Amino acid sequence: MELPFAESWKIKMVEPLRKSTRAEREQWLKEAHYNVFQLKAEQVYIDLLTDSGTGAMSDRQWAEMMLGDESYAGASSFYKFQEVVRRITGFEYVIPTHQGRAAENVLFSFLVKPGHVIPGNVHFDTTKGHIESRKAHAIDVTIDEAKDTQLELPFKGNVGLAKLEKVLADNKGNVPFMVLTVTNNTVGGQPVSMQNIRETVELCHRYNVPVVMDSARFAENAYFIKTREKGYEDKTIKEIAREMFSYADAMTMSAKKDALVNMGGFIATRRADWFEGAKSFCIPFEGYLTYGGLNGRDLNAMAVGLDENTEFDMLETRIKQVAYLAQRLDEFGIPYQRPAGGHAIFVDASRVLTNVPKEEFPAQTLTCELYLEAGVRACEIGYILADRDPVTRENRFGGLDLLRMAIPRRVYTNNHMDVIAVALKNVFDRRESITHGVRIVWEAELMRHFTVKLDRIK
Ligand code: F0G
Repeated sequence: MELPFAESWKIKMVEPLRKSTRAEREQWLKEAHYNVFQLKAEQVYIDLLTDSGTGAMSDRQWAEMMLGDESYAGASSFYKFQEVVRRITGFEYVIPTHQGRAAENVLFSFLVKPGHVIPGNVHFDTTKGHIESRKAHAIDVTIDEAKDTQLELPFKGNVGLAKLEKVLADNKGNVPFMVLTVTNNTVGGQPVSMQNIRETVELCHRYNVPVVMDSARFAENAYFIKTREKGYEDKTIKEIAREMFSYADAMTMSAKKDALVNMGGFIATRRADWFEGAKSFCIPFEGYLTYGGLNGRDLNAMAVGLDENTEFDMLETRIKQVAYLAQRLDEFGIPYQRPAGGHAIFVDASRVLTNVPKEEFPAQTLTCELYLEAGVRACEIGYILADRDPVTRENRFGGLDLLRMAIPRRVYTNNHMDVIAVALKNVFDRRESITHGVRIVWEAELMRHFTVKLDRIK
């Protein structure tokens, strides 16, 4: 008999979890105005709000924390970190930052001017925010198939080349760079194939447009290339990552994801002119160039995390856990963005809560129901997150309305996945009886989902 699959690590330190009663959760959720961002973490049993900065570090990472060099300038921790980034990415110039959005802020401060157009395969919210706040435009060029949640495609995060070419041709001389996000978080942690990376970069370079890789989950993307794309099955994750980066001009990195740390990020590039330009924004925003908003110990942990998470076994454990949760949902017939992504399962709320009108935010309602059912905190990636149209001030109902269950790295076991799946099944089984959603009581003008106050429609 073939031996079953098991995690590529064992557990050395544990953190107790707290369970609660439904009555307690009803009270807490009401106090949180039906917005799970407003809950206290101790009111949550299984936390799937994000996979960002919520992972568990290894014993090697913790050991390196003790060796952190906290010198203001020229710390050995920086050089250790720089060596690993250069080795894994092939980029010569490296600037540490405190997280991914800080890397965007520093690099975009140099590159983005009002009126610029920046295409991308769904810019993450902060990426988009850093473009739009500079009065430039972010244009999505992801393949249309990504919007059909039931369609199974191996590389559903891909760039639509015809769409991209149209943006490049219509905006000649006005596109400072293109953002290639691997994996494509917003459409479900879906990967981009090596072929698509190559073709995207070739197309951009033909128009003299450089490419910045938003690399938050680059290692998960490399895993999917290895397991799904012909010609890569015998390559190592490190070889695949190195090839991915070889096509790009620069990268921004949220190390809170695929570098397995709780806080950290960086910019890396092969362009000396971009390095020089970004440097002058790093100092006022993030601090001196050899620490960039981080402690020496954080740089050490990041160096080890990058190395560890570009090993196949680590990624296989991770991605198979997400696939396991998906398989449990399949047993119950719960619809989600197919196939299962790298870091999360995105449940298609509009196909679950069919009796809740879109004006009453089905995905947000499902988020509330899942929390009430079992203390599981997921988050809405849907109509509330989409904000209002800046001109008409109407809600934007054009996109998908999803419930994202992001799985922290090396934190929960498959028993937890079973709890999550059954909790969702219980809500799914009574979906016909859920006929009312939520209404907005108060909202911020931008990025309202963090602070929105809601009421439950009875
Ligand atoms: N790019 C991508 C693709 C991301 O998913 C994120 C963060 C960032 C950039 C920004 O990085 O948080 O370190 O500043 N995503 C988190 C999430 C917050 O929950 O998906 P950051």
